[in-house]
Parts: sequence; C-alpha cells; structure tokens
Amino acid sequence: MEQLQGLVPWVYLLAAVTFILGLKGLSGPTTAPLGNRVAAAGMLLAVIATFLESQVASAWLLIVPAIAIGAVIGFIGARQVPMTAMPQMVAIFNGAGGGAAALVSIQEYLRATGEGAVNAGEVVAIVLGLMIGAVSFSGSAVAFGKLQGLIDARAFRYSGQQLVTGGLFAGMILGALALIASAAGLVTVPTVLVLALVALLALAFGVALVMPIGGADMPVVISLLNAYTGLAVAMAGFSIGNQMLIIAGTLVGASGTLLTRLMSKAMNRSLGNVLFGAFGAATAASGARAEDGRTVRSISAEDAAIQLGYAQRVIIVPGYGLAVAQAQHGVRELADLLEQKGIEVRYAIHPVAGRMPGHMNVLLAEANVPYEKLFDMEQINDDFKRADVALVIGANDVTNPAARSDKSSPIYGMPILNVDQAQNIIVIKRSMKPGFAGIDNDLYLDPKTGMLFGDAKQAVSQVVAELKKAA
Ligand code: TAP
Repeated sequence: MEQLQGLVPWVYLLAAVTFILGLKGLSGPTTAPLGNRVAAAGMLLAVIATFLESQVASAWLLIVPAIAIGAVIGFIGARQVPMTAMPQMVAIFNGAGGGAAALVSIQEYLRATGEGAVNAGEVVAIVLGLMIGAVSFSGSAVAFGKLQGLIDARAFRYSGQQLVTGGLFAGMILGALALIASAAGLVTVPTVLVLALVALLALAFGVALVMPIGGADMPVVISLLNAYTGLAVAMAGFSIGNQMLIIAGTLVGASGTLLTRLMSKAMNRSLGNVLFGAFGAATAASGARAEDGRTVRSISAEDAAIQLGYAQRVIIVPGYGLAVAQAQHGVRELADLLEQKGIEVRYAIHPVAGRMPGHMNVLLAEANVPYEKLFDMEQINDDFKRADVALVIGANDVTNPAARSDKSSPIYGMPILNVDQAQNIIVIKRSMKPGFAGIDNDLYLDPKTGMLFGDAKQAVSQVVAELKKAA
C-alpha cells in the first residue's frame, strides 16, 4: 500500500496534464467531445489515486455511497436537462462545488484546532476557502432560482442596499481577520462561534451580491461564480495539502475568469456594469408601429419560401428562440433543400447568441450542420450586404441596429450582426415582444424586413413544406 501511495503525486501530475489537454480540446467544437472525455478520464484517475491515501481509504464506507448518490443525481440530471436549461444546471453544480469547498474548510479548521495549535498561514487558506466557497454556494443558489423561475428574475433593489451588502462583506472580513489573529496568538476569540458567523455572513453576502442582478445577466454571473468555486477549491487544497485540488481549482478559477471577461466583452459591458447595472430591467413598448408611421410587414410561410427559393446567397442567423423551439433539425432540412437548388447557405454565429457560450454551435452540431458552414461574427459580417436573404430565427438583440446608432440604448456599443445590410430580411419569432435586453428592435420596422410570426419549429417546417411543394 505504501509503495502505491508513492504513485499518487505522479497520477495527480498525469491528471493535471489531462485537464489542460481537455481545456485545450474544449476550445473548438470538433475537438470538444474528445477534450471532455480526456479530462473526465483524468478526473477518474485522480479520484482512484486519492483512495490510496490512508485517511481516505479508511473512510470508504462513507465516501463510496456519497459518490454513488452524487453520480446517479448528476447522470440523470445531465441527461434530462434541456439545452435551454443548461445555465441553471451549471449554476447548481457550481454551487455544489463551492459548498463542498466551504465544508472542507470548516472541517479542516475544526480538525486542526482540535489537535492543538493551528498556524496563521493555514487559517488564511481555510478562511479564504470558507468565504469564497460559501459566497459561491449561496450566489449560485440564487442564480439557479432566478433562471428556474423560483425567484423573481428581475433585479431586486431597495434603498440602502449597498450599505447592507458592504456591511455583510465588512463583517465577514472582520471575522476572518479575528480567526487569523487568534491563530497568531494576538487575540482570544470564541473561534468556533466566529467561524460560524463568518460562514453565515458569507452565505448572506452571496445572496446580497446576486439578488440585484437581472435574470438575464445570470450566465455571466454563473461564470464568475464558477471562477470563485475554482479559487475556493484551490484554497481547500492548500488547507488539506492536496495538490490535485490546488491544480484543478486554479484551472477552474482561471478559465472561469477568462470566460467571464469574454462574455462581458462580447456584450460590450464591463463586469462592473453586469454586477451593478441592473440590465434587463427595462421594458419595451413592443409596438408594431413606429412613431414615424413605419409599420411591421407580416408575411406568410409561402412568401418566405418564394423569397428564399429565388435567392442565391442566404445567411441564417440563429438565436435563443431557435433553442427554445428546438428548431435546429428543421433548419438543417431547410438549408439542405435550398442547397439542392444551388443556393449558398451559411450561418452567422454571434458570440452571445442564446444564453451561454457556444449555445448555437452546440445546437446546430446536434442537427449535423457542418462546422465549416458556421461563421463567427467577424468572419461573416461584411458579407451580409451581398446576401439576398438574411433569415433570422429566434434572434433579437444580436441583430438590433440600435447597438450601432442609438447612444441611449442599453445595448449601445454591443457588436451586432449586420443583418440590416442584407437585400431582404426574414425574421421568424412569435410576436413583437423584445428579447433578453428588454428593448424594441428597429430591424422589424425596416421596409426590407418580412416578419413570419410563429413558433420557430412550426414556422420553419411550414417554409420547408412550401419549398417542397414548389420543387
Ligand atoms: P434574444 O435577444 O433573447 O431574443 C430571442 C428571441 O427569440 C425573442 O425576441 C423571442 O421573441 C424569440 N423566441 C422565443 N421563443 C421562441 C420560439 N419558440 N419561436 C420563435 N421565436 C422565439 O436572443 P439572441 O438574439 O440570441 O440574443 C442573446 C441575448 O442574450 C443577448 O442580449 C445577450 O447579451 C444575452 N446573453 C447571452 C449570453 C450568452 S453567453 N449567450 C450570456 C448572457 C446574456 P418572441 O417572444 O416574440 O417569440
């Protein structure tokens, strides 16, 4: 057994390499499934190696059933969750990670102090793991509640809010400093009580931090909380002396931070604006008529099929509504029919179309749309002016020209797809209701735009039927 224990650091090193290779694989849609498997295999190896540690092996009766219960819940949850509910699933899994790191920190503090003196350095890692983990746990729980509709998704505001949030934060830090000072022998405090207080204040601070953020901004918040969980796990690794936790936690912390930055950048908003800007609280007029008299032109599936059938170049712009309606297979069939007529069909993918990074790529991949037909915004934006038809399916904000021209718009400055430059525009959505940002879209009043109202899946299949009739 002791000889085997000597292998543990090497297995951890191997697992760390698989995590890095896995992350590299996740950077592209073709390599992502393999990357995921490689990292999962590395994690399995790391878990097996951890059982070689004597104190872990002796507790197998507790650990194995816990792993089995967690695995069953995770497996069923991940298989059953629809793509559109993926952000809340990530939130709940992430919260569980943060909560686990906080519990490990508490346990380690009680163990270390129970055995006698604990040094201040150890306590720094322990309280950081506890605070960050608890904030991530309660913050993720609120994010889950907002996305799942269990809590009102709107930004929750009250007077004196910043004072309360600041007070919770200050109290938590003061408690943590007291624990560190106590370990250094500078003060005497009832340590267990203060530890419990720090945990409670951190939980309350997590709630206070996420409640004022609109449900619409939750994906960015979840990514940030994910980075927190990574840090908490790394801190838990320092306190129990486990290198694997330090490496895995740091990787999660770093990738979560980068993803948060990328998402904010793609929405042209600072992280501060996401956290404190109450975005999405605006309500739109949702009107079918502009003040200057322009009106919305509603078209039938037959009109859309005729326009598409006569085109030479079509660009499809998918958005959140395509995911809600699960219209990806219909879209693929539509594209196949057009291509059989010699029409060029390409897809324009906005970096924040949908509700999570890569949402559209995953959806279209599910319907076997070839990757080479998917173009990032920068690659395809100049081609809209040469497109005969831009077919917008369940996308709204990412096509809104106000982002370019209207300085008062909440999405002003957000890079958008140049759909308005196409020769003709067909928009499939159910109503004139706004999208995520809660604002009207001038594109719908453009004389070049025809609105095909209806559920994306049904509307697309009607257009497909019309195209087949005409063939
Ligand atoms: P949105 O602007 O949210 O618009 C989606 C549109 O789909 C809605 O206007 C809705 O109109 C329509 N829709 C909903 N269900 C439908 C159905 N069953 N059939 C047909 N249409 C349906 O979506 P987008 O253009 O993809 O933009 C994404 C937004 O999310 C951006 O504002 C972005 O900043 C934000 N966001 C994205 C991310 C990531 S990482 N992707 C993260 C945070 C925030 P109707 O109700 O009239 O049908």
